[in-house]
Amino acid sequence: MKILVTGGAGYIGSHACVVLAARGHEVVVVDNHSNSSPQVLTRIAQLTGAPVVASTVDLRDAVGLARLFAEHRFEAVMHFAALKVVADSIARPQEYESNNVGGTASLLAAMKQASVSRLVFSSSAAVYDATASIQVGEDAPLGAGHPYGQSKLSCEHLIAQQANETADFHAVNLRYFNPVGAHPSGLLGEDPHGTPTNLMPYVSQVAVGQRARLPIFGDDYATPDGTGVRDYLHVMDLARAHADALDFLVRERRSLTANLGTGQGVSVLELVQAFERVSGRAVPYDIVARRAGDVAALYADPSLAQRVLGWRAELDLEAMCRDAWHWQSRNPQGYATS
Ligand code: UFG
Repeated sequence: MKILVTGGAGYIGSHACVVLAARGHEVVVVDNHSNSSPQVLTRIAQLTGAPVVASTVDLRDAVGLARLFAEHRFEAVMHFAALKVVADSIARPQEYESNNVGGTASLLAAMKQASVSRLVFSSSAAVYDATASIQVGEDAPLGAGHPYGQSKLSCEHLIAQQANETADFHAVNLRYFNPVGAHPSGLLGEDPHGTPTNLMPYVSQVAVGQRARLPIFGDDYATPDGTGVRDYLHVMDLARAHADALDFLVRERRSLTANLGTGQGVSVLELVQAFERVSGRAVPYDIVARRAGDVAALYADPSLAQRVLGWRAELDLEAMCRDAWHWQSRNPQGYATS
């Protein structure tokens, strides 16, 4: 199938491109490179053995998007392009509304215009009310605590509206828990701008010597060791789920919303210890105050994805840490290293 991958140069989109190509699909990347390096496209090409067809277009540019849809006959769209830093979304909510929701609205309009009827959407566990449940099924209470999560929920609503209004249009919303790790080659990985806000890239940067010490946000939560518990998921498992979601759309011609996680809770200290084991490096840390907005524990009930998509996470915490370390040690400054 010929697939448009929005945000295909980003962390998750780039891994999805490699998995889709390995399944025989043809990918076309659209990315505005607001948070990604064009260097990623060269790395994807190295892994797939073919040049990547890519356009630098912002999804809000309706004319640029229409041109792209006229140039190619897409059979499906995978939509990753979005801003994703929770703290930034609190500081600049309009930017998240405009980029994430506006971009999705523009993409949906272009799909409608071109009669493209299959969409896989990169949603997030951030759409749930994290204060209401610990293990979260798809029917758990919704209600994001920040503009980033609200923007993902608004996108899901726009997608549902298009599905209601357009015969044959079907979408899979994939609600990710905590994606981590990297392509096992060490050629692709997570390369956040500035100080990482997520745990795994921070740990990796401490281990490689880019940062001195990891701040651990609280050790007095009601969890077994007092640190926060989350559901970490290997980015290669996550990428595979997108290819499975596409197969689902072809096979079943209906829409779906599904969680993606392992279903296992892992604490901050457990992750740090696993990382030290596989990397052979020390990760010195300080226990600091809790981070505003964090909850004690949040992990997925991923049984729907297993039942309906036939997908389950296969790679364990050790593989997540090993591949994150392989990426970080080969690329100490991320894509800027080369
Ligand atoms: N943590 C630290 N130190 C750090 C960074 C994180 O101790 O430097 C801790 C957090 O307190 C939390 C755990 O590590 O207990 C994971 O934190 P992350 O920031 O990596 O991930 P979150 O679960 O907070 O956030 C993730 C996604 C968001 C999404 C959110 C809600 O990154 O996009 O889940 O589902 F909004």
